[in-house]
Amino acid sequence: MRKKIVAGNWKMNLTLDEGVKLASEVREFVKNNPLEQLPGKPGVVMFTPAIHLDRVTQTLHNTKGVQTGAQNCHTQEKGAFTGEVSVGMIRSAGAGYVLVGHSERRAQFDETNEVLAEKVNIILKHNLTPMYCCGEVLEERDEGKLFDVIKEQIEKGLFWLSKEEFTKIVIAYEPVWAIGTGVTASPEQAQEMHAYIRQLVEEKYDAETAENTTILYGGSCNAKNAKELFANKDVDGGLIGGASLKAEDFCTIIQSY
Ligand code: 13P
Repeated sequence: MRKKIVAGNWKMNLTLDEGVKLASEVREFVKNNPLEQLPGKPGVVMFTPAIHLDRVTQTLHNTKGVQTGAQNCHTQEKGAFTGEVSVGMIRSAGAGYVLVGHSERRAQFDETNEVLAEKVNIILKHNLTPMYCCGEVLEERDEGKLFDVIKEQIEKGLFWLSKEEFTKIVIAYEPVWAIGTGVTASPEQAQEMHAYIRQLVEEKYDAETAENTTILYGGSCNAKNAKELFANKDVDGGLIGGASLKAEDFCTIIQSY
């Protein structure tokens, strides 16, 4: 059975103390509610600012099923790239995941599918898990181009991988119009796109690979609507922004299976 995941993307929020406090609260929740005893047995990932990774990872030490991740990485191993963070550094801080291609990075930092493919490559090389984001803007949806956009993002970013490599990827579908807007995709809209992505994977690789691919939904997912979204057969959890910054909300979402 494919893995269910609830991930929090803190983006550029929370001081170190605030982040450690949030992680401690999630740790206490998981201690009292072991993830493997929840119906969906979800894994939890906290994508913190890079500078918080080390301390947050230590805070979560021995919290079964909870991992940390970075929100971005550089394409190169090391060198003269002032201000950047390498996958080796992320790994040495104890993280297990790296987000790739979040729409904010695609739009604000000009990250192309080709650059994202390089990032996926170096993340896999370091044995970390890339969580690859895709999503259409409202105009593309309104013009009926949404499936073409997602297809291109996934083909160029991921479909050069071997089947074995692809099994190590997690996909997050985040419609850009739903991110931080309070407008969530309806359960039907989310299911429709997730099923489409799974079909693409089946066509490229095979049915078993498609069946085992974890596809998360992101975009104004919160403590109130998570259950309804996660109930869809192709939605394997969520990538949560704003609602991941409050332990109570995030923990409610973790229990939403
Ligand atoms: P919101 O949950 O704040 O809409 O953000 C979603 C997101 O971008 C997670 O990566």
